[in-house]
Amino acid sequence: MPTSVFIHRTSALTIENGSVTWETPSNIALVKYWGKKEDQIPANPSISFTLSNCKTITTLSYKKRSNPSDEFQFEVYLEGKLQDDFKPKINTFFKRIEQYVPFIKEFEYKIETSNTFPHSSGIASSASGMSALALCVMSIEKEINPSLTEVDFTKKASFLARLGSGSACRSLEGDLVCWGTHKEIGGTSDLFGVKYPHEVHENFKGYQDTILLVDKGEKQVSSSVGHNLMHNHPYAENRFQQAHDNLSKLIDVFKSGNLKSFIEIVESEALTLHAMMMTSLPYFILMKPNTLEIINKIWAFRESSGLHLCFTLDAGANVHLLYPDNEKEQVLDFINSQLVGYCQNAHYICDSIGFGANLIED
Ligand code: PMV
Repeated sequence: MPTSVFIHRTSALTIENGSVTWETPSNIALVKYWGKKEDQIPANPSISFTLSNCKTITTLSYKKRSNPSDEFQFEVYLEGKLQDDFKPKINTFFKRIEQYVPFIKEFEYKIETSNTFPHSSGIASSASGMSALALCVMSIEKEINPSLTEVDFTKKASFLARLGSGSACRSLEGDLVCWGTHKEIGGTSDLFGVKYPHEVHENFKGYQDTILLVDKGEKQVSSSVGHNLMHNHPYAENRFQQAHDNLSKLIDVFKSGNLKSFIEIVESEALTLHAMMMTSLPYFILMKPNTLEIINKIWAFRESSGLHLCFTLDAGANVHLLYPDNEKEQVLDFINSQLVGYCQNAHYICDSIGFGANLIED
């Protein structure tokens, strides 16, 4: 699909001002996106569980500019406080999307955003934050062009969100979203996320994700630096092929409900992601000693209990504990008795698989 289909061609002449609010969840990748080409095109396909409780809520208020200039004009507030350090990232986002939504320069904006999870929790807010902002921009386009269908709205919002932060394009829908072309999953694209179209076994309904906050600090290496280190990485080609293969294996796993295979794929993906970081040049380590302590405890617990608890990691030290809904009670007991001591200030967040973004009516 050529990117030109996403270019909006009408001017916003008739709209003076307005305001829109979207609430968008975070997501956790099972097969990881790590490495990208130009224009935020992923080097390999990925798939994620959409979350439910970890969300960003963003209100975009817009007003026609009396004298438009070449600069974007906006103010950003986080939890009610002016947040000028968010501006460069949003400015880059606006620059990247301008050719697809040329009306954005016709307005000035107030962006008010808040997260349901603490900002300094080490949980990346870029996926939920960028997808919420992309949806707000699309709501303006919908006002200019009311005939835009829901399908095209969501597809373009995901396309725009991707230009803000790659994984953000997987946060609009649920409960499983794929991004990146995969030969066995029809409709997949490098340009936007799509709902996983094949059969999903009951075992995965209501899947739980408890996030253990091991390190709430700012990460030493950003995702964008990490993605770029996959260029000329000695293991890159094998890794990209492995992601395709793991996604193929997951198709059978989702159908059969085979949790043993699910665990093997998901944990291998998490460790491979971090192995890529450790084997790039420059190399780096985002896991902390407590990350490894938790992983070893999970393996011992799984062995002794026969339950289906496993872990995944994103680009940081925090550990996502994934497990079926019907094992919740025993797993929470285990977390409270054996893992909470490894979390900063004993802090963890309980989440579960969710169904995507919501427009908040006034
Ligand atoms: O969306 P980005 O550029 O912050 O990259 C996210 C990368 C991982 O979280 C590590 C993996 C993924 O697929 O979400």
